[in-house]
Amino acid sequence: MPKPPICDYEGSNYQQVFWEEGERAYEDAVEAIALRRMLPKGGNRLLELGAGAGRNTPRYRGFEEITLLDYSHTQLEQARARLGDGAHFRYVAADAYNLPFAPAVFDAATMIRTIHHLKEGEVALQQVSQVLAGQSVFILEFANKHNLKAMLRYLLGKQNWNPFTPEQVEFVELNFNFHPRQIRRWLRAAGFSVRQQLTVSHFRVGFLKRHVPLGILKGLDAALQWTGALWQLTPSVFVKNILAQGTPLQEFAFKCPACGHAPLPAVKADITCPQCGKVYKYQDGIYDFRVK
Ligand SMILES: C[S@@+](CC[C@H](N)C(=O)[O-])C[C@H]1O[C@@H](n2cnc3c(N)ncnc32)[C@H](O)[C@@H]1O
Repeated sequence: MPKPPICDYEGSNYQQVFWEEGERAYEDAVEAIALRRMLPKGGNRLLELGAGAGRNTPRYRGFEEITLLDYSHTQLEQARARLGDGAHFRYVAADAYNLPFAPAVFDAATMIRTIHHLKEGEVALQQVSQVLAGQSVFILEFANKHNLKAMLRYLLGKQNWNPFTPEQVEFVELNFNFHPRQIRRWLRAAGFSVRQQLTVSHFRVGFLKRHVPLGILKGLDAALQWTGALWQLTPSVFVKNILAQGTPLQEFAFKCPACGHAPLPAVKADITCPQCGKVYKYQDGIYDFRVK
């Protein structure tokens, strides 16, 4: 398969502009509620895919080790500046389509607001299942094309794409919305068993966010999230999955994303693949496993 294009956040001030200045306290708060409901109390090693500047990372504090993975080096620099260099954080610049980890080295993973940038989402889900141990939890958030607003706009003739059909829609270059059925199909094909669905951001409407107190919107959203088990009509959906089969958790090691050789040692220094000779830099606390 040719390398899919990447929505590169290199140099972006996304965290500051979108979250801190973008009036998104409501979205952040209701995502935190969904995550709290789905996350296990604790665990050994969690992989955060598309971690960005680490907005959600503090929510994973029950885990002994957290690996933040993002294609953008500068997003990881921002995350490291916010979270610090504690022994329980590992920062890895790499491609979600080609993960640089040996099999079964994590017992949990999350992918929040990231699959919506992936043209080949199914490929990334297959990659996630390979680096998880059997019975691991995987929490996926996706942007839902089958949402009420899109349905109304389509039925009123104000939108040309059909929210009822399974294929993904690219509404802006490298920004995709997915149908829940399609996402569940991909998850099952990757070996996951879907255990819980929560619908999130029921009130993502500027007028409501400006005029209804945050506490009320949060409370209403929290109550409605459970309806995700019955239908999914919100712009954002969280899915909790268990990897049905797989080997027990293995000692942590990297894998060469260029030739597939594993294990590569997890030393805090440049790492050379003994099979293909490729050198992966470790600089300022960040591993760089991007293969150009
Ligand atoms: C919208 S941000 C979400 C950040 C964070 N999860 C959050 O919710 O605040 C999406 C992130 O996905 C990363 N990303 C996009 N494509 C990627 C890929 N192929 N591999 C790894 N990261 C990718 C981007 O660099 C960006 O930091």
